[in-house]
Formats: sequence, structure tokens, C-alpha cells
Amino acid sequence: MGLPEQRQDAAFEGTIVVRMVLSVNHLEAVSTGDSDSGQCASAHLNGLNGRHTGTKNTVGPSMPEKLNGNSGSLFEFCDDVEDAQGIGDQQMGAKTLRGEFFASPEVYAQETQQIFRKNWICVGRASDLSAAGDFLVHEMNGESFIVVRDTHGRVSCFYNVCRHRGTRMQVEACGHFKTRIQCPYHAWTYDFQGSLKNAPNMNEVEGFNVKDYPLQTVHSVVWQGFVFINLDRDCPPFESFLASILTRFDDWRLSDLVSAHHVTYEVQANWKIVFQNYSECYHCSLVHPQLNPVTSVKTSSNDFTEGPFLGGPMVLSDAYDTVSVDGQLCGDWLPGLCDEDRNRVYFYTFFPTLFISPHPDYVLTHRIERSSCNSTRIVCDWLFPQEVVDQTGFDPTKAVEFWDVTNRQDWRVCELTQHGVQSEAYEPGPYSNLESMLVAFDRHYLKAMAEEECDT
Ligand code: FES
Ligand SMILES: [Fe+2]
Repeated sequence: MGLPEQRQDAAFEGTIVVRMVLSVNHLEAVSTGDSDSGQCASAHLNGLNGRHTGTKNTVGPSMPEKLNGNSGSLFEFCDDVEDAQGIGDQQMGAKTLRGEFFASPEVYAQETQQIFRKNWICVGRASDLSAAGDFLVHEMNGESFIVVRDTHGRVSCFYNVCRHRGTRMQVEACGHFKTRIQCPYHAWTYDFQGSLKNAPNMNEVEGFNVKDYPLQTVHSVVWQGFVFINLDRDCPPFESFLASILTRFDDWRLSDLVSAHHVTYEVQANWKIVFQNYSECYHCSLVHPQLNPVTSVKTSSNDFTEGPFLGGPMVLSDAYDTVSVDGQLCGDWLPGLCDEDRNRVYFYTFFPTLFISPHPDYVLTHRIERSSCNSTRIVCDWLFPQEVVDQTGFDPTKAVEFWDVTNRQDWRVCELTQHGVQSEAYEPGPYSNLESMLVAFDRHYLKAMAEEECDT
């Protein structure tokens, strides 16, 4: 038995949950684990449509057996890592990943083991779980997880698997458990810490003890208002993962921001194509006629250039106070920003599931979910201070519309790229010197894929 390790850091909320069995002093006579479910908290605010889906192009049905003229193993990651390390700091000579990395089911399965089971995965905003019993269900790696806020205000994550006969207990994407988590099959009932509280008739079974059957716990932590989970029972502490960027967003007070609107996109492209597209503005002048004059690629720089966090700022052009349809702020500047940050937009990627884009008056986030080799769900949120959202007349539409247009422009070229990298004609092409973050992404990705398999 153990107690959860309480985080005291101001940037943290809740706990890093360790696998544990809580003592149970009494059993409840009546199961009350029913739930209300339905629309997630941040949807359909301010009269905007809550859900959009991107164009669904049909991607070719099968991979050619030999890709790019390369008949070697799909898992030549060690060679790829070596190549990537050979690139070193120099940009010239770096090339895009081979085609199988974007379309092979074997690579997809390897990513599950090497990346999505080992890294901290963002599953949503804690502000969407504001009350005890509020939950979201996160699907990943063929598994399902319940993330719930407990009566002590902590956020915990459990496998969505009943300890009786394994039934999936909750199928709605989000909602509210009134008092308990109850399995719909035989009414085994768990509290929000995962302890089994009631198992009808099981007291007649010799040796049965509810203490032996808590829900299976997953590591979870809340940082800057984002809920992260990690399926690796031996994962390093979250702080060590985030060490280089732990306080980077304090000035934007991310923990205090809430989603004023969100949009979910289904993009028919591999998740890495989406990451790479976000990580360069080489394409901006052609793909984004609206965005290009707002933040010129000539002003971009990067302050994180290696590892799991990449990116940096772009400077707003003189005529624009922020990125919005009319270039004007939606409210006021975010409190606490220096003059320099009032004139910048930052673009950061968090490997492998999150983009954070702080603006002078809001923070745009993209949360990435792999759906298949060649499809990705992207949940976009526009975050503002609660007090701004509560103001009479507050309307984020001009920020939402600007980025919705820009997003769709991006998804279109991502889907076109997905088509191309699946072609037997595709072979790795040379990166430009405006794509250094893609080289860094590839290097980190390949290292993660090869970890414990190569002597690197
Ligand atoms: S499978 Fe859940 S109570 Fe029986
Ligand atoms: Fe773009």
C-alpha cells in the first residue's frame, strides 16, 4: 500500500499516481455509479460550431512491397539513427524519412511500443474536469483509459477495464460520474481513486476481498493545466522529462487558462507529417496567404533545437496585435507578458502529442492523437483566462476563424503529402535550411524508435 506523491510545484496540479491499493473501511450497500455523459465541457461555446472534420481523402489501399527502391528490413532504425546523428548540427544533406515511416503498419506498431507506451501523452485539459466525478475517456494504442477528477481535486487515470470480467465500463468520450464508477455488467462499483467499493454477492465467495481488485492505475500528472499520462510503469519522473521547459510558460499562466472553443479535425495523414508541417514556415508564403503577412518566416527563430521540445518565436508584423481575422486582440493582453512577448507568437512541439502556441492574448493548442498509419485526430483549443471568457461580449471568433482557415490549409497539404509518400515513386528528399526543426524531430523520433535496440 502506498500514498500518492503530492506535487507542490505551482505549475503542477494533482499527483503523480503510483500503482497502489487503498484500504477500504466499509462497503456501500447501494451502487450509485451512474453517470451523465454527453458533450465535452469546452465544446459549443460562444455560438461557434463545436466540431468540424477535415476533408477525408481516400488514401491508397496498400503499400508496395519494396519502398523507395529499398528492399531492406522495415526496421533498419539503427542505420537511420546513425544517419541522423551523422547530420549533427549541419543542415545540408539531411533528407526526409523513408516512405515506410509514414504508412507501414509494422512501423505503427513499433511506435506504439517505443514511443506511445513510453512517453508522457497529453490527453486533455484539467479545466475540462472541473468537478469531482468529471471524466474523459482516452483511446490509445488499442486501449481505453478513464481520466477522472476525484473528491480531493486530484486527477487520476485508470484502464477502462472492470476487474471482474474485464468489461469496458465507460464508452462516452466525456461526462460526469455522479458518485462512483460503475461497471454496466454486474454493477461492480469503484470510487474515483479506483478502489473497488461494492461487488454484489461477492461476499459469499470465500477469500474474496475488495482490496485486491482496484482499477489498474496509470501514471498521470497535470502540468500547466494539461493532463498527461504515461503507460510505462517505470517511466522517469515527469519533472525530469520536462526539465528544460518546466517553467517556460509561467508568464502565460497556462494553468489558469480555459478553453473558449475547440475544434476536432480528422486528417488523413500520418501524425509525423502533421508534426513536421507545424514545425516549419517554409510553406507559409504559398499555403497561408492570410497568415504569411502576420508573421513573416524571416522573423522566426528557435530556442529549443534538440530533444522532445522544439520551436521558438515569430514576430508579429507592425499592423497586427495578434493572430486574428482583423489583427486585433480578442480581449486584453494576457496578464504578466513583457513587451517583447506582447509582440510575438511562439510555436512549440511537445513530442509526441502536443503543440503549444502562445499568442499575446490567447494560447492555441493542438493535441495530436494517432488514429492509424495514415490518419490523425487533432483537437484544437483556444485558451483564454477564465475572467476574460466570463466578460460580457467576449467573443473568440476572430481568433478561431483565422486558425481554423489556417489549419485546414495545413491539413490539405498534409493529406497531399500522405498520398505522395505512399507512392512507389517517393524517395527521401532534401530538407531546406528552413526545416531544421524537422531534422531535429526526425533525429529524436529515430532515437526513440531505436532505444534499447541499437548501440547508439
Ligand atoms: S464485468 Fe464488470 S461487474 Fe462484471
Ligand atoms: Fe502551416
